[in-house]
Amino acid sequence: MKKLLFVIFLLTFFCKFAFSDEQQIIAMGDIEYGEYLGAECVSCHQQKGASEGIPAIHGMDAEVFVALMLAYRAKEMENPVMRMIAGRLNDEQIGSLALYFSQLEPPK
Ligand code: HEC
Repeated sequence: MKKLLFVIFLLTFFCKFAFSDEQQIIAMGDIEYGEYLGAECVSCHQQKGASEGIPAIHGMDAEVFVALMLAYRAKEMENPVMRMIAGRLNDEQIGSLALYFSQLEPPK
């Protein structure tokens, strides 16, 4: 019994420190859900690259994507539009969007 408790302790310890917040959020994601949610984003974020001050997010690394969305949600980044958008997304939705956008073709 003691051994089992020890193994459980080790596993919890490992899970908490071996994966960053970003990786844990990406693990919750679902690409198809991300595609569905992403329809709203592509009205501003265009595949062909940055336009009118809006950076491209197609092909962005999933961890970077999550880190940026968390920063907007925590109001650590300034842009009011993105603060509002990230503010109503939960972790699962951010993870799904990260998975979806990271596997798209980046702008040339
Ligand atoms: C109304 C237009 C608009 C919509 C809709 C929009 N964004 Fe943005 N987004 C912006 C602008 C403008 C910036 C640049 C803000 C800045 O300079 O901080 C930005 C920045 C970002 C960034 C950081 C990019 C970088 O390279 O710094 C990410 C990630 C992002 N948006 C994701 C999303 C996602 C995901 C959605 C959909 C849920 C979305 N955006 C919807 C306008 C929009």
